[in-house]
Amino acid sequence: MGWWSPYMFPIVCMFLIVSVMGVVRNPAANVDIKNDNVINGHHHHNYKEALTKSILFFEGQRSGKLPSTQRMKWRKDSAVNDGQYAGVFEFADTYQGSYNDSLGKYVCPHYCDYGGYKDELLWAASWLYKASNERNYFDYVMRNKPNTTEIAFNWDAKGAGTNMLMSIESMRKGNGIWDEHDKESFRIKADEFVCSIVPESPSKTVEYSPGGLLFKLGGCNLQNPTAISLLLLAYARYLNEADEFVRCGNTIVVPSRLISLVKSQ
Ligand SMILES: *[C@@H]1O[C@H](CO)[C@@H](O)[C@H](O)[C@H]1NC(C)=O
Ligand SMILES: *[C@@H]1O[C@H](CO)[C@@H](O)[C@H](O)[C@H]1NC(C)=O
Repeated sequence: MGWWSPYMFPIVCMFLIVSVMGVVRNPAANVDIKNDNVINGHHHHNYKEALTKSILFFEGQRSGKLPSTQRMKWRKDSAVNDGQYAGVFEFADTYQGSYNDSLGKYVCPHYCDYGGYKDELLWAASWLYKASNERNYFDYVMRNKPNTTEIAFNWDAKGAGTNMLMSIESMRKGNGIWDEHDKESFRIKADEFVCSIVPESPSKTVEYSPGGLLFKLGGCNLQNPTAISLLLLAYARYLNEADEFVRCGNTIVVPSRLISLVKSQ
């Protein structure tokens, strides 16, 4: 449940800027980073290269069990057993607190905890419900879900992701512990999220650049089209399986429309 602040310039932004300017080189990944293109005496940003490096950067950030195709050879599997014995979720729920209070003096003002941790607890409980089907995680989400519609999905805000995940779960296992009210409550929020993004929706809240790139106000936009595209793709897949669509006012949004929108990003 966070929001953007001018203080927050994630590494991704800096990496992009620095790599386009051609002042870094990453020998470990065996990739050359060239100066920007000069065509007819004019400097042009090499977006292909910037994108290539960004993807590589994200690849390098992955944790858990890494696939054999991992290009950052110095990076190995990590965090595969974290919390296995402590019961990570139960621990976090019992000893709730913001990392502002512990790490704040080292990471703030660059990486403050702006949105609090309630959304992260819900996000964790939703995944645990998905993975385990256990009723206590389902009940936890139902008991603690906010009554507002979240349209942010980023490092500090997980609300939109939780709504999508739970809505997808209601379509996949929409019986047993799910009553109609529970299903509706997430479906409405997930649909509102879609309607806040799709360009032809009357309730759209994001902007698009003249070239059609999704643009949300904030210091580092790259995370928005990336994270939102992920949610839209996942939702499109399950809408498709359930033979469903989203209604935004009088506008019908079918799963294939969501996929074409994501492709355009
Ligand atoms: C963490 O600190 C920042 C900067 O002082 C503040 O804006 C934010 O509200 C704090 N977050 C929490 C959850 O207290
Ligand atoms: C939503 O929750 C807030 C705080 O928990 C409460 O004040 C508000 O009345 C609720 N709104 C609705 C529509 O239930």
